[in-house]
Amino acid sequence: MIPQQTIDEIKNRIDIVEVVGDFVSLKRKGQNMWACCPFHNEKTPSFSVSPAKGFYKCFGCGKAGDAIDFVMEVEKLNYAESLKYLAKKYGIEVKEEELTDDEAQQQSERESLYILLGAAKEYYENQLWETNEGRSIGLGYFKERKMSDAILKKFELGYSQDVWDGFMQHALKNGHTEEMLEKAGLIIVKAEKKYDRFRGRVIFPILNVSGRVVGFGARALKKDDKPKYINSPETVVYVKNQILYGLYQAKQAIRTAENCYLVEGYTDVTSLHEAGIENVVASSGTSLTEGQIKLIQRFSPTVTVLYDGDMAGIKASLRGIDMILEQGLNVRIVLLPEGEDPDSYSKKLGSESFKTFLNENSQDFIHFKTGLLAREASNDPIKKADSIKEIVASIGVIPDSIKRSVYLKEASGLLEIEEQVLVGELNKIIRNKAKKTKFQEDTHEEATQLQSLEQEVSWDPKEIIKYQEQESIRLLLEYAHVELDQETSLQTYLLNELEDVTFFSDIHTEILNKFREELAEGRTATVDYFVKFGRPEVRKAVIDIISQKHEVSPKWGNKYKIFIPSEKDKLHLEHSALTNVLRLKQRVVRKLLEDNIERLKSATSEEEQTEIQRIHAELKRTEAEIASQLGNVILK
Ligand code: CTP
Ligand code: MN
Repeated sequence: MIPQQTIDEIKNRIDIVEVVGDFVSLKRKGQNMWACCPFHNEKTPSFSVSPAKGFYKCFGCGKAGDAIDFVMEVEKLNYAESLKYLAKKYGIEVKEEELTDDEAQQQSERESLYILLGAAKEYYENQLWETNEGRSIGLGYFKERKMSDAILKKFELGYSQDVWDGFMQHALKNGHTEEMLEKAGLIIVKAEKKYDRFRGRVIFPILNVSGRVVGFGARALKKDDKPKYINSPETVVYVKNQILYGLYQAKQAIRTAENCYLVEGYTDVTSLHEAGIENVVASSGTSLTEGQIKLIQRFSPTVTVLYDGDMAGIKASLRGIDMILEQGLNVRIVLLPEGEDPDSYSKKLGSESFKTFLNENSQDFIHFKTGLLAREASNDPIKKADSIKEIVASIGVIPDSIKRSVYLKEASGLLEIEEQVLVGELNKIIRNKAKKTKFQEDTHEEATQLQSLEQEVSWDPKEIIKYQEQESIRLLLEYAHVELDQETSLQTYLLNELEDVTFFSDIHTEILNKFREELAEGRTATVDYFVKFGRPEVRKAVIDIISQKHEVSPKWGNKYKIFIPSEKDKLHLEHSALTNVLRLKQRVVRKLLEDNIERLKSATSEEEQTEIQRIHAELKRTEAEIASQLGNVILK
């Protein structure tokens, strides 16, 4: 259990922009910061962070919360684990109070795996630097490859001694279990035998975006030692298609450069850092996955692939390119001379020449593909036609239509083919695709934007009332303390006006009651209060309400006569508050009228009918009264 004092300290230190900024690239627009949502697939940013209010909200998928919620969601941690994560980030020491058995058990498996993997990393690192075998063999190997101490430390590289169960014994002694060792992929269990997975190799720890160890790559030290690399298997925390080697060390540089170099191997990453290029990640030998591309997309609009210039390298890059384009990223390509990889070539040229080489040889995918065409098919008309189709097909996967037409123009010039011909080809491809999956995706995205229109069809009166309730709550949340005159604050006024109103929504009622309670004590409930201390449901509701204003289309508001306070109404708060309450009452009365008429349909006795008619008349009078009051307010 984390002591309350520490929790408060953490909460006070949190800056949501810093916390979220570790996972996505935020851009300021107006009062908020925006990014593509890390929780769902999208191409235009609908994920917003409010620095002032301390919470995030995605208008696409609806996820919302404060910094702690964000960490829980993005890192799949529980509440306590998220607090620990944040404590670590802000250098706050967490002294845990004694765990009860239950709590100890609840410490999730994920967290135990992270702890074990972190311990393994430290063990291997220690072996490299502090043991004779590590220094002579491991460090010797790295030195031979001209890797500096600084880089070894930066990537936390290590060495595993050439014995069967060195790490296993160490871990068991420190209270880890065989079961967890196996789950972490650190030992192999075969029949009666159990032994370390990594033996007599140098170790590359693999980190996730937030810097926690999820697995290892272990390189053989001799040529005939096969396989060259032994890697951790997939585990609960190491989902391979979601991890990029080097991203943790690169993310800041990627953001600054707005470009991410993509290479294949561990040593390509470390060597580029050695050469002073830090915006680099590796797919680690597997072909690039959609998940990995999305990971890059959180930080950068452009990917530059660096591949070996032999045919295998080119084929590999071709496969990757369309996938990257399809995600809406820009792609550039640098082909290295045949037989060279970024590691070998950067060392051959030296830092400065290598940087120059990258700048001079990076081409966009159209130039790259037409270059290949010239190389392969210049004298073969059929091959040429195929290649042109392939180029147009690549353009066709780009989601942005403006980008598509720019590339088409460029391709037309380079291929010396009339643009119209290429446009025709492209349209064919797009039409075919529209019939298939892409169409559904697009409409999905549009759907979130057009949500309000859809709701016009399906909303029932109760929902509309709830919406109007929400507006009352919003007024309270935003302006409760504002003085309308010398004696009356907005909350006094509004709560008074709402005295005889019962809210439909339980959550709204709960929030309203909190305001009442606080006011009775001479205080004011605040957004901050609800966000920090509210039940999760209440917190979510408050955040939704506060951030939703911009989402409501005026058309929709007009149609249902929902009164939405606008910026200029800040000057006329009393007017806003009254209008809001009257609209709410009007809605409630109309709903009661409708319900009453329904009852009339099924009324059997004459008495019942009379009673219903009496209620009807009463409600009608109230409705007229409200309408006249509304008329007066609006005339004001
Ligand atoms: N790889 C692997 N298993 C292998 C070979 C390769 O997992 N048996 C992965 C590793 O992530 C490696 C990447 O594929 O980093 C690229 O392979 P390769 O080019 O062969 O290795 P390098 O990274 O160049 O390693 P080195 O420079 O040490 O030879
Ligand atoms: Mn290499």
